[in-house]
Amino acid sequence: MVDEDKLLKAAQIIKDSNYIVVFSGAGISTESGIDDFRSPGGLWEQYDPNIYASYQYFLQDPSLFWKMHKEVEELVGEADPNQAHLAIAELERMGKVKAVITQNIDMLHQKAGSGQKGAKIYQLHGEYGKLHCIKCGNEYNFDEIDTNSVDYPVCECSGYIKPKVVLFGESLPHGVLESAMNECSNADCLIVIGSSLLISPANFIPSIAKQYGAKLVFINRENTIMDDLADVFLKGSAGETFTKLLKMVKSNI
Ligand code: APR
Repeated sequence: MVDEDKLLKAAQIIKDSNYIVVFSGAGISTESGIDDFRSPGGLWEQYDPNIYASYQYFLQDPSLFWKMHKEVEELVGEADPNQAHLAIAELERMGKVKAVITQNIDMLHQKAGSGQKGAKIYQLHGEYGKLHCIKCGNEYNFDEIDTNSVDYPVCECSGYIKPKVVLFGESLPHGVLESAMNECSNADCLIVIGSSLLISPANFIPSIAKQYGAKLVFINRENTIMDDLADVFLKGSAGETFTKLLKMVKSNI
């Protein structure tokens, strides 16, 4: 049960803010049926990230990455946004949310309607729907390649084809981190939701926003290593907490 006083404080911060930036991680999507990475039973318990999500390993043998992909893709493809994604899109329609910075590749912010009123969406860890050949750079869509009858897809040039998601050991997409950091300099409030904040450089975002004077509202099921930065820490599930928060923001508190 989320602390009522803290909810009121967070709602007041949101009411007072006109340039809210949201920073989301995998925890926002668990209520949509997609496991996060580091919770008990999370993805990295099922797949050792040093193997399945390592770029170096992908270069040696892409088949394990593609094995994981095949098992995860169905879940992600069928997932619907939950109350937290929908509340963020609603705050955008209310003119409050101006940007969403996400570590997720599940596209659930977009499916919920984020971006439709002009908010920018920064996908720090890449885009799932697009692929490219890591040798010649040729771009593909999923419907252009066969991933079912092979261990891994290969380009005409013989290079390995890979979704444009960031594996461990790879750089972030060009310019996206800089643009996201720039958003933080404009933010009067940063809502951090569903992230353990363990992965750099994405986890620089909260402290940068704080340095520029933004108020920080955290919504997370567990404590994070950066709780000290939060003006309000709402411990609870993303969907339930955000639903209550939005209701308070819309009421006369
Ligand atoms: N509501 C609120 N918080 C939740 C919920 C929920 N329903 N479900 C999980 N959480 C919290 C967990 O308690 C945890 O603190 O979300 C956090 C998820 O943390 P991680 O699994 O580490 O996910 P994330 O922070 O997004 O990981 C960052 O690591 O491996 C990489 O590239 C991957 O983008 C990912 C990055």
